[in-house]
Amino acid sequence: MTVRFGLLGAGRIGKVHAKAVSSNPRATLVAVADAFDQAASDLASQYGCQVRSVAEILAASDIDAVVICTPTDTHADLIEQFARAGKAIFCEKPIDLDVERVKSCLKVVDAEAGTLMVGFNRRFDPHFMAVRDVIDRGEIGTVEMVTIVSRDPGAPPVDYIKRSGGIFRDMTIHDFDMARFLLGEEIESVTAQASVLIDPAIGTAGDYDSVSVMLQTATGKHATISNSRRATYGYDQRIEVHGSKGAVSAENQRPVSIEVANASGYTRPPLHDFFMTRYLDAYAHEISSFIDFVESKSPASPSGIDGLIALALAEAALKSVKESRTVKVSEITGALADKSVFQGR
Ligand SMILES: NC(=O)c1ccc[n+]([C@@H]2O[C@H](COP(=O)([O-])OP(=O)(O)OC[C@H]3O[C@@H](n4cnc5c(N)ncnc54)[C@H](O)[C@@H]3O)[C@@H](O)[C@H]2O)c1
Repeated sequence: MTVRFGLLGAGRIGKVHAKAVSSNPRATLVAVADAFDQAASDLASQYGCQVRSVAEILAASDIDAVVICTPTDTHADLIEQFARAGKAIFCEKPIDLDVERVKSCLKVVDAEAGTLMVGFNRRFDPHFMAVRDVIDRGEIGTVEMVTIVSRDPGAPPVDYIKRSGGIFRDMTIHDFDMARFLLGEEIESVTAQASVLIDPAIGTAGDYDSVSVMLQTATGKHATISNSRRATYGYDQRIEVHGSKGAVSAENQRPVSIEVANASGYTRPPLHDFFMTRYLDAYAHEISSFIDFVESKSPASPSGIDGLIALALAEAALKSVKESRTVKVSEITGALADKSVFQGR
């Protein structure tokens, strides 16, 4: 028996997830929906599935689970509708751009006892998982400091930037989640710097393109994040974790891993060009884990709460920039920060 999927949104990430679902032997891609018929029918014909409307997928008795790959401002409404319809839900990050809206959405999921997994795909990257395994085996002692470098090859169109919620909610949100995943403690405070160094149009749209963030836990552990919307040399994705007994790092990955040495020096092929290729394995593992949660009916991880906390960290970072000060996460999350909600360690 396979898990039968509907996929909503046949855009950039929808195509990636359609491939992950279709290539998993424990899944069947039954139908695709998109606001643009052509986008849905192109993807459906590629994977031999049906085109249906969102309403038809919602009402379908032959669909167990949905993958939500539509724009962010549709996520919370769709999650609520599909939770009420009793479907298991995988939703791309972020759940919404507003912390209060995420909280109200998660209440509906809780009330329906629904399965909700949020798309923090980097937790499923084999290299980053290996880093976490080293930590869990105690090989570097107690984690003290995490360094994350995450730079896109180029900025998205300004129209995208305007709807994205800004760099912290759109891009750094992955790194906030990764920092929590590696530190193993909740973040207590956020200090951020942000500038427009690449394209003045990004500033005119009210956003930043270059940010540095420092996170601190209650016990004084740190994570430092460096984000840029430009890296001339490809998709720059590196992490390093420093502990009491050593350090572990994951360097950049390449489609072809060779090094040429000659009289001109040492050269290596370019990095992956972007997330669709760099994280291909991660997306496949992510969907496979979602299927595990659906089959076992156990709570999914990363959960809705993980999505909420990462968004709260994004809001804290933005507040830190606007007010030129360190911001306590509890200023954003209120009572939530007092609860032990951390999952996954
Ligand atoms: N985890 C990741 O690595 C990752 C990467 C990229 C995007 N994302 C997230 O995925 C989401 C989609 O991003 P994208 O870059 O794929 O966007 P996109 O614009 O390429 O694709 C979105 C698709 O959804 C369709 N759509 C819009 N409204 C719809 C609706 N109401 N019902 C059905 N279809 C609808 C659009 O026609 C479009 O084809 C965003 O929330 C983004 O943050 C995550």
